[in-house]
Amino acid sequence: RRSKRGQVGVVQVGVETYGGGIWNTWFDRDLTVAGRVIIKDQATGRLEQRLVRVERPILRIPHLAIHLQRSINENFGPNTEHHLVPILATAVQEELEKEVLMESTPSLLSSQAERHSPVLLSLICPQLGVKPEQIVELELCLADTQPATLGGAFDEFIFSPRLDNLHSCYCALQALIDSCAAPSSLSQEPNVRLIALYDNEEVGSESAQGAESLLTELVLRRISASPHNLTAFEEAVAKSYMISADMAHAVHPNYVDKHEENHRPAFHKGPVIKVNSNQRYASTAVTEAVIRDIAARVGVPLQEFMVRNDTPCGTTIGPILASRLGLRVLDIGCPQLAMHSIREMCCTSGVLQSIALFKGFFELLPTVSSSLVVD
Ligand SMILES: *[C@@H]1O[C@H](CO)[C@@H](O)[C@H](O)[C@H]1NC(C)=O
Ligand SMILES: [Zn+2]
Repeated sequence: RRSKRGQVGVVQVGVETYGGGIWNTWFDRDLTVAGRVIIKDQATGRLEQRLVRVERPILRIPHLAIHLQRSINENFGPNTEHHLVPILATAVQEELEKEVLMESTPSLLSSQAERHSPVLLSLICPQLGVKPEQIVELELCLADTQPATLGGAFDEFIFSPRLDNLHSCYCALQALIDSCAAPSSLSQEPNVRLIALYDNEEVGSESAQGAESLLTELVLRRISASPHNLTAFEEAVAKSYMISADMAHAVHPNYVDKHEENHRPAFHKGPVIKVNSNQRYASTAVTEAVIRDIAARVGVPLQEFMVRNDTPCGTTIGPILASRLGLRVLDIGCPQLAMHSIREMCCTSGVLQSIALFKGFFELLPTVSSSLVVD
């Protein structure tokens, strides 16, 4: 990894696009970097992983002025190699600051300076309380500095980056915690309640920590292992039920035709069950019936989504885990707009509805499962 680059007197930072973003939303935003850094403890020689986030807006991808691209409003798709490189500083200012910088931290011009701009390192090191020569590797993401906010005339919306899919992660975790909060909540529990939050879903899930990896099976095997029951894992999987929670597309008032007319999820009307005969979503009549039963018991409304026949269908980790494990899976998620924009939008009620539904799922699955007579 080498992030150092720049031209015409501008210090820039090399970036690589990840997944299918709406890249034009990254222009003219107050950007920063966040991610992980591997550092070396010089006393012990140990390598250590640390998280870092620079709070200030240190980076920018400015638009090219309208005067220099008159047709921009007809179609704006940036070239991801040439047009998305953010600006960190001017070379002139960097030169001026260099002396001060070098005096306080002479090692800024050491080995890492080949790969990363000393300016960038000078911003990251104080955050971590380390010296530049301790930095072994950087794995940073470009990110927006603007915090998430409530919005709309009645504060009924959430404007935020990464709703897809931190929204579902948050709701799943909160529901798991809430379902275990009462002192005796697990005393009669025959099941193992668990959530898994995967990386790399946006790029196909094929990574050590993605849903395609063997990790899920290995972890589940260890959880169910029993010296007296050699088929415990295989039997437990057959009895298990997984909710694959990922965000859904709410109908957009300006693009109503993009949705099939009977499947137009709206804000406030509940989490959206996603169904696809071609198995881009893993929901089946059985898994749908179970969640509908649970939703009715906890008073959460549900909506349905099927894609138009003339439109490609998104997918989730649902079909991956259903097929790898032979697991019953339901695909569901809250409606949102502007998916994969730097700033997405959803409604506040989706958060409460999801938590109530997932909590109900953990608590009521044994009851509802035992009343299920389909095999
Ligand atoms: C083995 O484990 C499975 C899954 O937990 C369970 O359903 C089954 O009853 C167990 N069998 C025995 C003999 O304990
Ligand atoms: Zn996505």
